Amino acid sequence: MKPRKITDGVHWMGAVDWDRRLFDQLIPLPDGTSYNAYLVKGRDKTVLLDTVDPPMADVFLHQLEQVERIDYVVSHHAEQDHSGTIPAVLERYPDAELVCSEKAKGMLEDLLHIPENKIKVVKDGDTLSLGGKTLTFIYTPWVHWPETMVTYLEEDKLLFSCDFFGSHLATSELYVGGEWVVNGPAKRYYAEIMMPFANVIQRNLEKLEPLEIETIAPSHGPVYDKPSQILEAYREWVFGDPKNLVTLPFVSMHGSTLEMVNHFTAALIERGVGVRRFDLAVVDIGELAMSLVDAGTIVIGSPTVLGGPHPLAAYAALLANVLRPKAAYVSVIGSFSWGGKMVETLAGLLKNLKVEILEPVLVKGRPREDGFKALDKLADAVAARHTERGFESL
Ligand code: FEO
Repeated sequence: MKPRKITDGVHWMGAVDWDRRLFDQLIPLPDGTSYNAYLVKGRDKTVLLDTVDPPMADVFLHQLEQVERIDYVVSHHAEQDHSGTIPAVLERYPDAELVCSEKAKGMLEDLLHIPENKIKVVKDGDTLSLGGKTLTFIYTPWVHWPETMVTYLEEDKLLFSCDFFGSHLATSELYVGGEWVVNGPAKRYYAEIMMPFANVIQRNLEKLEPLEIETIAPSHGPVYDKPSQILEAYREWVFGDPKNLVTLPFVSMHGSTLEMVNHFTAALIERGVGVRRFDLAVVDIGELAMSLVDAGTIVIGSPTVLGGPHPLAAYAALLANVLRPKAAYVSVIGSFSWGGKMVETLAGLLKNLKVEILEPVLVKGRPREDGFKALDKLADAVAARHTERGFESL
């Protein structure tokens, strides 16, 4: 694909990875992804912002055949899906300097073996004039690593945000906004990549507040020409209260836990609480992560296996623990045959979460009347807590 014009002197470059289905060998990519780079030409200087994942280097280097000169390559983020092709670019443009944040310098040297003398470190707020185009570098740590920064192009009111505001979406369109992207691929991306750093993102959003932004050009997915929608969505995901929603990841081997999950689901619905259930045997963990963005309560359903939770339930707990959702309550439901430490093990895996643990419900074998009553009591507790806290329905 040829470079695509965004404004005079600013072009999208990069690669659309239509067929990739897994990121970091963990994160499902149902809609593929893209690695976006951008070329900014001023009167005097030309800058390339980021590159592409090395497996797509050929596509990118072919695009660059049309670019005669590059004075600077800006690396917003040292992760290889954006930085991995920098060595090949520097080889092709030996006079280009690599511009990055203080923290990125060491990372780029370590990860890509870039010689120190090729690197120009910029501080937070530093500017670079290209002649009629002025770039301001803004440190935005933890979106998605500690070294990350974004670049604001003053004359075009354009923010190059790298991972921040990105989405894993392969599309033929340069601009795709609207509800589907924001609450689909962009929310999935936030849930999987950004949510663990929500506290820091809060500061980064505040830092960007004074800028007049007409366009956001991230390094994954489409460009936003109406950025208010994604900015508002981020404010809601980061600052907003959790919702009147239970996220219920579960696994059942012989049906007892499933019976409990079914009863509990109905009990919650009868009490006006929303539920999103995820059968861990077949789950898309991106869908589970998206639900965790909103969940007021997380309830894990699991049978007892070899004295502890089913490994898939432990995986769900570990995932929730690293994603650090803003849920306020957690509980466990499930069955056992001869005892074990399922609840203690799961609670131990959720130590990052600042939550109240609601009375778990464990039954021996298949649930009987008292088990169903205990599930009703747990549903009562969830509904009461959500009402007290004013959690709104989705
Ligand atoms: Fe898209 Fe954190 O790299």
